[in-house]
Amino acid sequence: MDDIYTLGIESSCDETSAAIVKNGREVLSNVIHSQIAIHEQFGGVVPEIASRNHVEAISTVVEEAIKQANITMEKISNIACTYGPGLVGALLVGVSYAKALSYSLNVPLIATNHIHGHIAANYITHKELKPPFLCLVISGGHTHLIHIKSYTEFEILGKTRDDAVGEAFDKVARVIGLGYPGGPKVDKLAKEGTPTIELPKTKFDNLDFSFSGIKTAVINLHHKNPEINKADLCSSFEKTITEELISNTLKAANMLNIKQIALAGGVSANSYIRGEFLKLENEGYKIYYPEPILCTDNAAMIASAGYYKSLTGEVADLSLNAIPNLTVIENNK
Ligand code: KG4
Ligand code: ZN
Repeated sequence: MDDIYTLGIESSCDETSAAIVKNGREVLSNVIHSQIAIHEQFGGVVPEIASRNHVEAISTVVEEAIKQANITMEKISNIACTYGPGLVGALLVGVSYAKALSYSLNVPLIATNHIHGHIAANYITHKELKPPFLCLVISGGHTHLIHIKSYTEFEILGKTRDDAVGEAFDKVARVIGLGYPGGPKVDKLAKEGTPTIELPKTKFDNLDFSFSGIKTAVINLHHKNPEINKADLCSSFEKTITEELISNTLKAANMLNIKQIALAGGVSANSYIRGEFLKLENEGYKIYYPEPILCTDNAAMIASAGYYKSLTGEVADLSLNAIPNLTVIENNK
């Protein structure tokens, strides 16, 4: 079989990214233009500013990805672009660019789900990983516990009922004065603290999560007692959240008798969460997570997910639109 070169394009939030991935797993280039410095001053992503920046960056980012991969445009077999979920104006930039390029190169366009991309980041880092496995997707916008039945079949086992984990990290960080994006800053500061502060946990009779209670508790503790040790607060916050993540993941793993567990999404870059999940290997589980650069938004993961979708023969056409509230199971097309 001929090698497949997929051009991935990602623009769902504040990263403009393009990548060339060979046969779904081998990254030849992964160019990421981050807008963090621009949004930092506002304490979060400003959608309109994000869209404008994607427009300015996208051509250069795609050209750079092709150059770094050391291939020509003619070598591109197909184009995978994120069409949701995400910010509508931001998504539209990548979708429009991908449509135009697929038309001019006469190659198939693959409409790719951003969350499927986060899951697929694991295929790049772990060449041996194959479905079925469990995947805990923890990012700024999503918290999902998913049964990966095949490369393109998913079953949601649990999800957050309110805030996403990353959202809770970012809000806590903002309130205690660590800045944006908060996740990496909480991760760093927590290492200097001890988890001595009791924080509330949620209990549901299914595998759902909730993080707004713990977020509010941390914020209230800080407001009531501004002298409270921030490192201890961060460390306690991380510990409580990790216990909830592990508890539900283990329940699901036992229910389905699955030993392969993957983490995905920006929050899976968290060193404490990774460490605690890794401990499960002593109990017979195999834990996977992507290398840090593939945890946060990037186009290589989109190219990988798009490659597997292309194998099903499902191709998009020029009527493709951005779907900001696209779900893991794509029934809201
Ligand atoms: O996957 P991602 O880049 O974007 C979404 O699809 O949402 O995730 C971004 C999120 C942010 O909330 C950021 O604070 C969080 O991932 N994050 C982390 C760490 N690195 C990024 N959270 C905790 N610890 C980290 N080391
Ligand atoms: Zn993401």
